[in-house]
Amino acid sequence: MKIKLIWTLGIIFISIIGFLIGFSISNKLQNISSNTIKTERTEVSLNNNMPKITNIKDTTLMFVGDMMLDRGVKSSVKNNFGGDFNKLFDNIGEIKDADILFANLEGPISDVGNNVGSKYSFRMNPEVLSAIKNASFDVVSFANNHIGDWNKMAFEDTLSRLQTESIEKIGSGMNINEAESPVIIEKNNIKFGFIGFSDVGPEWMQASENSSGVLLASNPRLPEIIQNAKANCDVLIVSFHWGDEYKKIHNKRQEKLAKLSIDNGADLIIGHHPHVMQDIATYKDKTIVYSLGNFIFDQYFSTDTMRGMLFEVKFEGSKIKSTESKIIKLNKKFQPEGIYTEKQIKELDRITSKICPKPSKEYDNMFFLNIGQDIGLIDSSYIPKDLQEIESESSTKTGICLIKEAKESFELMTSKARKDGYIIKVSSGFRSYGDQKYIIENKIKNGDTNTDIAVAKAGHSEHQLGTAVDVTGQSIKYVSASDNFEKIPEALWMEEHASDYGFIESYPKGKESITGYMYEPWHYRYAGKDIASKIILSNQTVNQYLSELN
Ligand code: DAL
Ligand code: ZN
Repeated sequence: MKIKLIWTLGIIFISIIGFLIGFSISNKLQNISSNTIKTERTEVSLNNNMPKITNIKDTTLMFVGDMMLDRGVKSSVKNNFGGDFNKLFDNIGEIKDADILFANLEGPISDVGNNVGSKYSFRMNPEVLSAIKNASFDVVSFANNHIGDWNKMAFEDTLSRLQTESIEKIGSGMNINEAESPVIIEKNNIKFGFIGFSDVGPEWMQASENSSGVLLASNPRLPEIIQNAKANCDVLIVSFHWGDEYKKIHNKRQEKLAKLSIDNGADLIIGHHPHVMQDIATYKDKTIVYSLGNFIFDQYFSTDTMRGMLFEVKFEGSKIKSTESKIIKLNKKFQPEGIYTEKQIKELDRITSKICPKPSKEYDNMFFLNIGQDIGLIDSSYIPKDLQEIESESSTKTGICLIKEAKESFELMTSKARKDGYIIKVSSGFRSYGDQKYIIENKIKNGDTNTDIAVAKAGHSEHQLGTAVDVTGQSIKYVSASDNFEKIPEALWMEEHASDYGFIESYPKGKESITGYMYEPWHYRYAGKDIASKIILSNQTVNQYLSELN
């Protein structure tokens, strides 16, 4: 009993001691953590008293290219989106995250004025304005070759409409003073200045002391204008509408203007007008984006015009922290389909070009092979490495492929033909060895007697190079290799224009004994613009010319 009592007292004693120790530890812990909180709070409150530290926040500027919501875009919005221009921006919500969002506004937004007569005159419906505002655009370049399309009345009306919507514009104004004054947008205590020039006119719209208009890059006061702008801001962005249309590399003039601007205080150069993306360069540590390409435009005739750049610049204070160029892809409705990284777009291209065969090994380039009755491919299983499918507007069926350069030029050519009123499509493009073999065997099976001069032996066809096309036209309901082709208007159009796009007739009339094939007015080979024009001048057949070249 005594022992039991001693045990019980012992346990109670130990418990009390344990409790006291535990309490003191937990108290200490509490003290430690509350000290930490205190310390943190102190830091926070200290920071609050140090604006220089807390106010260094990143500022994200985003730039997109040519925005033109008239013509094909307007029809598409009417047909596909019930007239709601907002829908154009449905898939690119992330541009709204920009602290400052910029685009080039390619034409007036107005319902007044008169068309000055150009075939490519644009005037956007005033309804587009709220869609542009809803998409969060802060500043637009209104200094480009289309601002005068509907005369000064529409131009000035646009200036006032932009002002009403609080969308800033650069490069234009009610007088030269307004046109050359920078737009200053302050974010995170940094003054971002924007100024814009057009290097492609319209000359007659040049702003002056007492007339409204555009700021031209040819203005001899450009250095001074840039210096003045820089004096009013921390970061100066200079925008140019410049360069050669559809050229993917900048020209000398662009480079000269960019360097001159940087020498005079520009921190970032943003270019547009070529309708395709161009290279990005640096000069004195400043970035030059030579061309953003299209943002929203109805140029469906090539892959490059149906894509544009989203250029993102992150500033830490007034210093550039990072830049990234992404790609915006337009769908057939001229609606941006999404924003992709370069890696993603490559993967997408790989998937969509799956329809065209891919080589299983590396071959020499056969672009200029003098292929014909007597000369065939050394390796008859040759498949060019960059075959791409011709888009549906230019093709009688799916799955017709050409090498990339020829495909793009073909689409450009047929698009021009469409503009001129002729619908020309490809009926045959790349053929594998097996395809060519099948064509001959089928012809023989059908009892055709002219197979030798009508179809090349397998391994001997220009079609196997991925550069040859058989074309046809709407007026003969797209019949392939028709005897009537020679006489149709589409054939005459091709004869006149094909070489401008690098395509040349391989088997012309009167040269049958040289080519070894019958006259094929529908068969063209892509040789590139320069070679095509040289072949025409030489009055030789493609093969004669290439045999001398090789
Ligand atoms: N019809 C041309 C000669 C070809 O088969 O390539
Ligand atoms: Zn052919």
